[in-house]
Amino acid sequence: MQSSQAAILHNKKVVDDYFRMRLSWSGMEVRPGQFIMLRVSDGLDPLLRRPFGIYNVIGAKKTTGFSFKRPTGVEILYRVVGKGTAILSSKEPGERINVLGPLGNGWVEPEEARNVIMVAGGVGLAPMLPLAQRLKAGALLFGARHKADTKIVAGFSGLGCKIKIATDDGSRGFKGFVTGLLAKEIKPDSVIYACGPAPMLKAVAVIALASGARCFVSLERTMACGIGVCLGCAVKTGAHKAGYEADGFSMVCSDGPVFDSTDIDWDAL
Ligand SMILES: Cc1cc2nc3c(=O)[nH]c(=O)nc-3n(C[C@H](O)[C@H](O)[C@H](O)COP(=O)(O)OP(=O)(O)OC[C@H]3O[C@@H](n4cnc5c(N)ncnc54)[C@H](O)[C@@H]3O)c2cc1C
Ligand code: FES
Repeated sequence: MQSSQAAILHNKKVVDDYFRMRLSWSGMEVRPGQFIMLRVSDGLDPLLRRPFGIYNVIGAKKTTGFSFKRPTGVEILYRVVGKGTAILSSKEPGERINVLGPLGNGWVEPEEARNVIMVAGGVGLAPMLPLAQRLKAGALLFGARHKADTKIVAGFSGLGCKIKIATDDGSRGFKGFVTGLLAKEIKPDSVIYACGPAPMLKAVAVIALASGARCFVSLERTMACGIGVCLGCAVKTGAHKAGYEADGFSMVCSDGPVFDSTDIDWDAL
């Protein structure tokens, strides 16, 4: 993990409020599912860095194995939801931005990629691309508000995963929540990787538990430090499970963002 200044190589609108930013950034290693924190302003407002999943790893030297070695750049896929992301969307190529990362644990490598099901809601798609690039198999179930938003899934074409889409209004694919697709696809030997809004993740966890499938979720919490110091991103874990000896709290930034879904106390999230 390092803090460094990175040059913005491009920052383009993909569709509606979704943008894609490429940064010139070198690091030793990036695991699929890790994230970075960006200081979007040089001033005091907003003060805190904003966390974003690593969507694409550029120029990695080693193409085998689960991690990406010695990349020369990273991309994020982000949605404008407030002040910080609005500032981010106004940045121009050539500007420099402070990057802290890579942070977090990243996805757990599956023993076998055959029955992997990636479940993404909205911008929860971002940390799935490095995973799909590594696995080159399985299925991606993507839930979006409407057909226009599904444009962001284009980067997954040709990666070897079967793509199924659900939209809230039925304008493309299955009409309804992405969990409706999951209920049809899941098998007891599936391994689920999920990222999206908390209610979606909770529903995914319930379906996985009922099916006996292993399930990993990538959580989003408001973060201040990103390195396990401020305790601002704590979630209740473990205490609800009989015989579990952890202290009952985990930091999403440093213990996660990826957790086994059965470790999360979903009622307390
Ligand atoms: C590990 C991690 C990875 C993330 N990856 C991505 C990503 O790849 N792409 C992306 O677009 N976003 C991602 N997010 C969410 C992103 O960090 C927030 O959308 C961003 O910080 C909002 O900043 P803002 O100043 O624009 O909004 P604010 O003005 O701070 O808030 C606007 C709205 O967004 C909500 N919000 C703020 N921060 C978060 C947060 N951390 N999680 C969920 N909702 C939040 C607020 O409750 C509020 O409703 C990630 C968050 C985490 C914790
Ligand atoms: S953001 Fe500070 S402990 Fe996680």
